[in-house]
Amino acid sequence: MDENTIEISERGRELQPDAFDSLPPGLLGGREFILDKVAKKEIESFLINLPKNAKILDAGAGAGVEAAIMESRGMKVVPLDLSRKMLAKIKKHAKLMKVEGHIGRRVQADILQLPFTEGTFDAVVCKDVFSMGCWADRVDISSELMRVLKNEGRVLIMAEEAPDTIIFVDGLVRQGKERELLDNLQEGEEIDLIRQIEFTEEYITRVLSSVGFQNINTKTEKKEVKKWLSDRLVSATAQKP
Ligand SMILES: C[S@@+](CC[C@H](N)C(=O)[O-])C[C@H]1O[C@@H](n2cnc3c(N)ncnc32)[C@H](O)[C@@H]1O
Repeated sequence: MDENTIEISERGRELQPDAFDSLPPGLLGGREFILDKVAKKEIESFLINLPKNAKILDAGAGAGVEAAIMESRGMKVVPLDLSRKMLAKIKKHAKLMKVEGHIGRRVQADILQLPFTEGTFDAVVCKDVFSMGCWADRVDISSELMRVLKNEGRVLIMAEEAPDTIIFVDGLVRQGKERELLDNLQEGEEIDLIRQIEFTEEYITRVLSSVGFQNINTKTEKKEVKKWLSDRLVSATAQKP
């Protein structure tokens, strides 16, 4: 396989993957991602306990900032995303960020149907997918991540929690209390999507343990830039029978 090729799974094709790129700027599509200091520190300490040259899946890799960092630390990273346009940005971003990563294989697929056999990865990193990035059921995502991990493999989930509701009005993001947002809508305004981003430490612990993860560590940090958001940082171990 040519290292510049983006592989696509059947399911990835079915889901019209570039739909994500047409979502409002500033949230998903088109956003130029920057890895903040909290996430960078968290990823670096997660890598310390992994084997040398560990094989890591970056699930929902987006433009691949964290993938580039991990590659530059000697890990073998497979960035996976539903969006081809996001995956296409990865090499450019690695270069721009002056990290010496060498991203080879990139995979366009659905996080709910990962095109890998059981126990393929030593670790999975999944950043900003559980909260705002993807609308799939979180138990379903967790169980698919568990499937592709080796026994005793490690997962790192980073996700944002907002105290408020997110709503897309005529394609732009508004955030606030749901009732007020709805009461203040002007006639003719169109709502695309509405979501409460609830992602407490208790909640994610429940989700992960329901699919068999153990040694679940959680912590919360305020976001560096968007201070109204908290980052939940969660690591756990896949315990397989
Ligand atoms: C908020 S972005 C996070 C990207 C990256 N991890 C980061 O932190 O910069 C969420 C990503 O999840 C991807 N995504 C959404 N649903 C997905 C799915 N079902 N399967 C795979 N990727 C998905 C989107 O295309 C988007 O790139």
